[in-house]
Amino acid sequence: MANFETLDDLPGDLSGKVALVRVDLNLPMQEGRASDVTRVKAVKPTILDLSDRGAKVLLMAHFGRPKGQRHSTMSTSMVQGDVERVLDREIMFIPEVMGPVVDQAISILGDGDIGLLDNLRFWPGEEANDPEFAKGIAQHGDLYVNDAFSAAHRAHASTEGLAHLLPSYAGRAMEAELKALDAALGNPDRPVMAVVGGAKVSTKLDVLQNLVRQVQHLVIGGGMANTFLAARGVDVGKSLCEHDLTDTANRIMDEADHAGCTVHLPYDVVVATEFAVNPPSLRTCNVHEVQPEEMILDIGPQAVEALGDALKTCRTLVWNGPLGAFETPPFDTATVALARTAAALTQDGSLTSVAGGGDTVAALAHAGVADDFTYVSTAGGAFLEWMEGKELPGVAALTR
Ligand code: 3PG
Repeated sequence: MANFETLDDLPGDLSGKVALVRVDLNLPMQEGRASDVTRVKAVKPTILDLSDRGAKVLLMAHFGRPKGQRHSTMSTSMVQGDVERVLDREIMFIPEVMGPVVDQAISILGDGDIGLLDNLRFWPGEEANDPEFAKGIAQHGDLYVNDAFSAAHRAHASTEGLAHLLPSYAGRAMEAELKALDAALGNPDRPVMAVVGGAKVSTKLDVLQNLVRQVQHLVIGGGMANTFLAARGVDVGKSLCEHDLTDTANRIMDEADHAGCTVHLPYDVVVATEFAVNPPSLRTCNVHEVQPEEMILDIGPQAVEALGDALKTCRTLVWNGPLGAFETPPFDTATVALARTAAALTQDGSLTSVAGGGDTVAALAHAGVADDFTYVSTAGGAFLEWMEGKELPGVAALTR
């Protein structure tokens, strides 16, 4: 595992020091409030630890994609209230990221107080990773903490540049995330099963290509499975399917064979002629019996049982993407069943289970097992890039 410093490497007393802390406050909003504060809860231990040690904590974050211009609706002040509620602390909003306004705010903040800088992406230097921009921010701090794994796939000034300018540390959430990811793919107990679902193969090509070399069992679910079934000569009817990628699907299956990775595709499926809640045309059939007017919307019970049996032989599971159209019942059945099997095996101590990505987190929450997995990552793009085997600039910059 990469070697980096953590909060444990900092002195116990940080009075008089300013800690610049990169967090991810890119929260989903509904009617002016965050509809999910999981990301704030994740960084709370880091913020309070630094504050308890007497540091003045300056939170740095992006919010949306304002592309180098100020937009009042994308100010981080929009989430100030949510952050205050989760931390149960008052924080000072600072409408700049550098210069005299920040100097003045720091002079007003007492030891242990918390400030929130405005959206870094209001300034083009952030996304351009402009060294002058990074220097402008760095001059306000004595140390830099990165606790935003979910933004670590971006080589931006606040995620990458700052790490070269100040003593740098991984925050508690970053540390936990990196440990979990290392246990799942970096240095896992084998056999490893990967579950990759989602609508399109085209968005997960790199993930699949990397995984067939890393894992012993690859489960392909969601709409993607149809492309693989079609590549094997199955008529998938009206199912979502990228017919132009059948060659690619065949190549991935060949690579898997070569690497000793078993690719699991369903042999029974749940189909309907319309995509709706409990449609009258719903039925379960063998994959070879899908009719021209039918769509595959979930994998079938026999396939789920076979996957559960295969999972029982595994020591590690990494999961991204649902197996079926889980938002519309009953097409959540396979995802819920496999998630519950994984949760039970994890609770028994026989499986390390790591899941990530927006849909996956929602699917596990829907199955009621999000707390029973070893680790659930709230990162979207960063989790995918990690599954693709890419080096994440924000993590690389922390590595000594
Ligand atoms: C996220 O919400 O996944 C992260 O905050 C990254 O956001 P971005 O895709 O706008 O860089």
